[in-house]
Amino acid sequence: MKILVTAGPTREPIDAVRVLSNRSSGLMGVAVAAEAAQRGHETTLLLGRGATHRPDASIHCRPFDTAAELADLLRTCFPQADMLIMAAAVADFIPEPTDRGAKMSRHDGPCTLTLHPAPDLVADVAAGKRSDQTIIGFALEPAADLPERAAAKLAQKGLDAIVANPLEAMESTQISGMFISADGQIVYAPTDLPKNKFAIWLLNQAEQFCSP
Ligand code: CTP
Repeated sequence: MKILVTAGPTREPIDAVRVLSNRSSGLMGVAVAAEAAQRGHETTLLLGRGATHRPDASIHCRPFDTAAELADLLRTCFPQADMLIMAAAVADFIPEPTDRGAKMSRHDGPCTLTLHPAPDLVADVAAGKRSDQTIIGFALEPAADLPERAAAKLAQKGLDAIVANPLEAMESTQISGMFISADGQIVYAPTDLPKNKFAIWLLNQAEQFCSP
């Protein structure tokens, strides 16, 4: 298959030197891309420049900073893909444009940031996908009602499947997730898998999901 993976955080500029970002390390998506490539899938990784984990040089990788840059890359790369695995931690809010060429001075403060909701990138891609393409999203939710909230996100965004993982997975090297498909089937991964082992488990689910 041709597999497109997104990973890592977006970074939205506040001014010339500051950004609004999140704590995603990129580890999960990088591990998924490495496993997909290892299995012989033609793999492209769209990776946030803020990610602390990098793939090895054999992985075809394209960097992004902002949600708008990631949206552009998805527009370019998704039409050629059989499958999109959307592990990137995309901004939910984008700072209102300021004078990006300047650096705000501490002496001008206090100041207020106005944040606007970001577009839902994976939902936009899903809205235009072909029937021969598969989109797998990720959902980071409180452990208490993880399956219900993740299934609701899957439906809202028009995805084929979603990998649900508890908030605690952020910045952790381990994960206890589940694979939920649009028909309501839930497959639980073994608990507390290191993310590289989870990537193997996830690719098994994804390949099985796509096999006729
Ligand atoms: N996502 C996206 N565009 C956004 C936000 C999220 O494409 N602006 C994608 C993520 O890459 C992930 C899925 O949507 O595959 C779920 O992300 P999550 O952060 O769990 O959900 P949100 O859509 O941000 O919803 P909420 O803020 O209500 O948690």
